[in-house]
Amino acid sequence: MVESAATQEIILEVEDLRTYFRTRFGTVKAVDGVSFNLRKGETLGIVGESGCGKSVTMLSMMRLVPIPPGRIVSGKIVLDGEDLLQLSEGEMTKIRGSKIALIIQDPMTSLNPVFTIGSQVAEAIRLHQNLSKKGVMAQALEVLRKVNIPAAESRMRDYPHQMSGGMRQRVVGAIGISCEPMVLIADEPTTSLDVTIQAQYLKLLKDIQRESDLSIIFITHDFGIVAKMCDRVAVMYAGKIVEMGSVRDIFNNPSHPYTEALLASVPKMEEDVERLYSIEGQPPTLHDLPEGCPFAPRCQYVMDHCRTEYPVQVDLSESHYAACWRLA
Ligand SMILES: Nc1ncnc2c1ncn2[C@@H]1O[C@H](COP(=O)(O)OP(=O)(O)O)[C@@H](O)[C@H]1O
Ligand code: SF4
Ligand SMILES: [Mg+2]
Repeated sequence: MVESAATQEIILEVEDLRTYFRTRFGTVKAVDGVSFNLRKGETLGIVGESGCGKSVTMLSMMRLVPIPPGRIVSGKIVLDGEDLLQLSEGEMTKIRGSKIALIIQDPMTSLNPVFTIGSQVAEAIRLHQNLSKKGVMAQALEVLRKVNIPAAESRMRDYPHQMSGGMRQRVVGAIGISCEPMVLIADEPTTSLDVTIQAQYLKLLKDIQRESDLSIIFITHDFGIVAKMCDRVAVMYAGKIVEMGSVRDIFNNPSHPYTEALLASVPKMEEDVERLYSIEGQPPTLHDLPEGCPFAPRCQYVMDHCRTEYPVQVDLSESHYAACWRLA
């Protein structure tokens, strides 16, 4: 574990967030009552199998959920004292990038192939800061240097396809931090990178965080990354946070059977790392949730009661809770 930059000051509070999609199969409750907070300088990890609502939670925070079919049904997302769900689209456009920024998984799809690297970084800065053209270019150069792009000045004239995957990911990172946001959301940003480049990229994020008190939400399926990067972890299943705790709580005392199963299924070093988790059974489809605990069909500890009523949230310590009848 690296030394943490986390402080006690809460910068972001998400309260009972619900984001649903209307589909021809029925209403998909992609995010269904998610609450958490984030402190200044802290890194919060979000883990869980595919389809459990991690990305939709983050898109909701950016107000980028496609409407329709999506809809933020209820909740609060208070960033720096302001509820983002109450802002107009124009106000939200100003906040996106400047106070809260998102780096998504695939650096190729988040860079436009027809524009140079320099112009794409500059565009992000121009949108949010009132600088002269010269000032914008100077700042673009500075952020590219900050993310360790060698020969940044000449690289600014390159197109995305002229760069390696790792380099492109750094450019995406540069765009993310170009306006010095308070919160950076990284949605599986290293999935497509090889291990060495991944390690460099993570170190870079940590360095930037230490310099700027940046708070990071890191979505990953890799518990190795969680151990290296995060202060706290939220485990998501079927649109809900089922366990939350410090990294130590989660690794030393995983208390929800789902967390336990995730940790037990972490692939060993020599195995295929692409193979994510292999817990028996499938996550439920979110338009057809079973009554009671959604993990019940896959849970080795399931009791009758689990199938009829959603479990209560049990506080295990000041920093640690889980929602499971076995703990109640
Ligand atoms: N545009 C959409 N229309 C309908 N359902 C969607 C849409 N986007 C996401 N979903 C559904 O929301 C659920 C959560 O998805 P997502 O947040 O992307 O999962 P994760 O990031 O954890 O893999 C999934 O069941 C997915 O099918
Ligand atoms: S509530 Fe019951 S089914 Fe759900 S995780 Fe706990 S023991 Fe398993
Ligand atoms: Mg996702």
